Amino acid sequence: MEARATTFYALLLTSFQLLLTCHVTFAAGGKWDPLLSNVGISAMHMQLLSNDRVVMFDRTNFGPSNISLPNGNCRNNPQDAVSKIDCTAHSIEYNVESNTIRPLTVQSNTWCSSGSLRSDGVLVQTGGDRDGELKARTFSPCDDNECDWVEINNGLARRRWYSSNHILPDGKQIIIGGQRQFSYEFFPKTTSPNVIDLPFLAETNDRGEENNLYPYVFLNTDGNLFIFANNRAILLDYVNNKVAKTYPAIPGGDPRSYPSTGSAVLLPLKNLEADKIDAEVLVCGGAPKGSFILAFFFFE
Ligand SMILES: *[C@@H]1O[C@H](CO)[C@@H](O)[C@H](O)[C@H]1NC(C)=O
Repeated sequence: MEARATTFYALLLTSFQLLLTCHVTFAAGGKWDPLLSNVGISAMHMQLLSNDRVVMFDRTNFGPSNISLPNGNCRNNPQDAVSKIDCTAHSIEYNVESNTIRPLTVQSNTWCSSGSLRSDGVLVQTGGDRDGELKARTFSPCDDNECDWVEINNGLARRRWYSSNHILPDGKQIIIGGQRQFSYEFFPKTTSPNVIDLPFLAETNDRGEENNLYPYVFLNTDGNLFIFANNRAILLDYVNNKVAKTYPAIPGGDPRSYPSTGSAVLLPLKNLEADKIDAEVLVCGGAPKGSFILAFFFFE
């Protein structure tokens, strides 16, 4: 018994040594250095801007943050569930060059909103929770520390929480899906009512666990949009509002979209000289079907 235990420990030790050796080999020369010990908010959302600054923002209705608004300013929002008057910031700008931060004023709840940069560098962030669900917000990068969020009431036609935005060749953005929203719309608004049904999002909505939120959206080389939700994808001709192609489900069929959050990336285009340029999307991660319900209801 004792001998066996000794052998076990010896094996264990060997494995640790192996691990340690691998660790040292691969991490040679690398180390982490905190740039700032505290930026005052959690960077729930974060976007690098064209002037090498990073705008970060968090939800607004979860009590005060750890950074005050400048000049004794306070946010006054009677619609906020928790902080109707709040003198702390829920967004900051990080200046990479000077390694400093600047508090910004975001009024409405950006929790699980979505956004995209415009070609002129302006960040457009739409939707969110509660008082933020119909908002569009813009942030125009500046070098004089004067810029701040600008909010547009009813920038959206439908409440959008956990939707996905993508810039289009004409400079507009398409905003797709969101919780209980099986449709897409454009910002700025193009048509009235500016909302087009997308049954694909209803079909990929798993009862009680959704699994089709924050869909992965890429502009294909043929001008159509590749939209992946849950475990499968379509090619959407958003100009004519038609599904141009329906792809088969991913093998195994497990969900890859929020809350079974995986991720996706458009791989580098290779054959740029060809008549027809091929695009390839890589989808990684996800969770077995039913994970959300198990995690949510049985976490105790
Ligand atoms: C942030 O946290 C520090 C440390 O707890 C505290 O001293 C400071 O007053 C806080 N600032 C704000 C604006 O909450």
